[in-house]
Amino acid sequence: MKLVFAAATNSDAAALAALHTAVAEDLTRRFGPGGWSSGQTERGVLSEMRKPKFSRIVMARCQRRIIGALRLATKKPWAINTAHFTPACRPLYLTGMAVHPDFQRQGVGRLLMKEAEAVARAWPADAIRLDAFDAKAGGGGFYAKYGFREVARVTYKKCPLVYFELTLPPAAGDLEIDVIQDKCLRGKGGLLRKVRGSSALRPAGGGVLMIAV
Ligand SMILES: CC(C)(COP(=O)(O)OP(=O)(O)OC[C@H]1O[C@@H](n2cnc3c(N)ncnc32)[C@H](O)[C@@H]1OP(=O)(O)O)[C@@H](O)C(=O)NCCC(=O)NCCS
Repeated sequence: MKLVFAAATNSDAAALAALHTAVAEDLTRRFGPGGWSSGQTERGVLSEMRKPKFSRIVMARCQRRIIGALRLATKKPWAINTAHFTPACRPLYLTGMAVHPDFQRQGVGRLLMKEAEAVARAWPADAIRLDAFDAKAGGGGFYAKYGFREVARVTYKKCPLVYFELTLPPAAGDLEIDVIQDKCLRGKGGLLRKVRGSSALRPAGGGVLMIAV
C-alpha cells in the first residue's frame, strides 16, 4: 500500500469528518457506546485548522483517499493534567488519532505516527503527549507498541484515561548553527538572537535554547 502524507487544508475537512464518524461508528459497534462514540463535524475540523501555528492535522492518503489522520497541537486538551508528565519545554498534544476501519491493523497507524514524530521534531517540539481511553476500545496498546511510555492512569469526568508520552531528544543536527547576521543566528529550530552585551544566545521567539551534544 502506497501512502502519501500531507498537512490537511480546509478542502479536506468534509473527508476528515467522515473518517472520524466512520471510526466512531465502528468502535461503537464493536465495544458499545462510550466516549469514543462521537464523530466529528466538518465545522469542528475546520476550527482545528484555523491556527496552523498552534494546531495541525496530518493525513495519510492512499490513492487520494484519506485513510488516516491525527492532530498535533500546542494547547493541552482539558483531560490532560501536565503534572503527570516529564517536564518539557515545547510539548505537543496528539488527539484525533484515527485510521479508517477498512485499513486498521495494516501498519498505517505506525507510519502515520512516524510522520507525526517528524512533524513534531521540525515544529520544533521536545515531547508528544496524549491520553487514551483506559478501556478495550482505547488505543493504549498501539501507543505502547510504538514506543510511548505510560505515565499515569487518571479519571477525568468519570472517564478512565491512560496518559502516554514520547520524549523527543534533540537530533545531533540540531547543533548546526549558521551565522547569518552579526546579532542573528539560525539554528535548526529557528532564529536565535545574541543577548546584548553577552555571548549568550536566545531563541528569537522566546523560550529555551536546546543544545544537543
Ligand atoms: C489505534 C489505531 C490508530 C491504530 O492504527 P492501525 O493502523 O490499526 O495500527 P498499526 O497496524 O500500525 O499497528 C501497529 C501495532 O500496534 C498494534 N495495535 C494497533 N491497534 C491496537 C490497539 N487498539 N490495541 C493494541 N494494539 C494495537 C498492532 O497490532 C501492531 O502491532 P505489531 O507491530 O505487533 O503488529 C487504529 O486502529 C484506530 O484508528 N482505531 C480506532 C480509533 C482509536 O482507537 N483511536 C485512538 C483513541 S485513544
